[in-house]
Amino acid sequence: MILKNGKFYQNGFLIDGALLIEGGVIKETISDPSKQDFADLKDKNEDGRIIECKNKIILPGIIDCHTHLRDMSQEHKETFRTATKAAAFSGITTVFNMPNTDPPAITSSIVQKWMNKAKNNIYVDVGFIAGIPKQLNPEEIKNIIDLGVVGFKMYPHESLNGLDWTIKGNIQLLLQISSRYKIRIFIHPQWPRSATDTRELFENYFFRDSNLLKLHDKLFPCTSETQFVQYVLENYENFIKTDHLSPEEYPIVHFCHISCKDSYSLIKNILVKSPHYKISYEVTPHHIFLSNEISLSKAAVGKVMPPLRDLGVKEFFYRELRMGNLLMIATDHAPHTLKEKAAEFLDAPSGFPGLETYPLLFLHEVTKYKLSLVNFVKIASENPAKVFHLQTKGFIEEGYDADLLIIDKCSEYKINPSRFHSKSKISPYEGMKTNIEIWKVFLRGIEINIKDRTPIGKIIS
Ligand code: DOR
Ligand code: ZN
Ligand code: ZN
Repeated sequence: MILKNGKFYQNGFLIDGALLIEGGVIKETISDPSKQDFADLKDKNEDGRIIECKNKIILPGIIDCHTHLRDMSQEHKETFRTATKAAAFSGITTVFNMPNTDPPAITSSIVQKWMNKAKNNIYVDVGFIAGIPKQLNPEEIKNIIDLGVVGFKMYPHESLNGLDWTIKGNIQLLLQISSRYKIRIFIHPQWPRSATDTRELFENYFFRDSNLLKLHDKLFPCTSETQFVQYVLENYENFIKTDHLSPEEYPIVHFCHISCKDSYSLIKNILVKSPHYKISYEVTPHHIFLSNEISLSKAAVGKVMPPLRDLGVKEFFYRELRMGNLLMIATDHAPHTLKEKAAEFLDAPSGFPGLETYPLLFLHEVTKYKLSLVNFVKIASENPAKVFHLQTKGFIEEGYDADLLIIDKCSEYKINPSRFHSKSKISPYEGMKTNIEIWKVFLRGIEINIKDRTPIGKIIS
């Protein structure tokens, strides 16, 4: 297959040229092809297919390391099919899936069951993240790793395995496992508080602050995120020092959805001081584009963990984005039903779908010259590919997977959640505008944003 006459992104430039794709891989990239170059390319084009991409922009497929695909007993919220279809139609060609399923994915048999279900039911490539087994059972940990998971996830506020992650001994053991098996630990950074204390606080605050999203931010404040990040970083440094680890043996830690200035600064500073530390982080689209001051017809739609922060924090992350300082974006796509979200604010679940709005929002900023395309491709594709060692993804280069997103500019239209492929047809971005059309999306050279396509996604290990 040849993609011709489009502009493809390579090394910071949009190149007028053509791509030859064969066997799911980018075989050749040519810039400013002459008639002869193009004739030569055509000779090599085994399936004879040529796609005219005039006025279109070809980008590497997006990699989103934080999604909740649900399925199993939560099919009413989302399934592997619906979530990955949402990704496929958005140009997100690789996602990582989180383990806070029902039941939680903390044993090898559950992880295995999950992977079996996913086979033949995913439209994009999926990496699985497991929960941490009870009592850090070494045999289970080994078995889960052997299944090919891309990491383990730790939830200190709602521990999946009953372990208290505020006990230093537990976190030290986890860092040891990471170091020994070279496996990544994904962390939801939040110092825990009991549900009873939260309800009490809610009732106390409720009379003073009628803005529910601000109240939610008060209940789960930045101090609790920063406290947990600081605690992990201290343990990380102590472990390296007391065990005299060499850089190859450093534990691998990824902080999910950083949403506060102080927690962000702690991570940035430690990476400046110690660039060999294997520490990464993500920021979500909603902490860049939304604050707790937005007005929604139903506040629970904007209820998310970590909460939307105040305008100053949102503007801070927006500036960091524009200045090219962020490492990567991850959606934290967290689908819930309309009915669940219609509950009383405190009882409504946290989270909303993010896959189908992410590229539209960011690329819209690019067309308005508020965000450079170079920055976007870095945080959406290149950096995740580098950090997670996805060696054939994230770049339009010869030998790489032909995971591609082709976009076009169109007249502005409003985001309409009722059109989502996700089962969760709600969004705090409802009514916001974009001028981006996701024209074609390819996974290993196969067009995947087509209605009746069979799922061809693979499990990444
Ligand atoms: O808002 C959230 N929703 N934050 C989380 O950490 C979990 C997620 C979910 O699974 O719904
Ligand atoms: Zn989380
Ligand atoms: Zn999450």
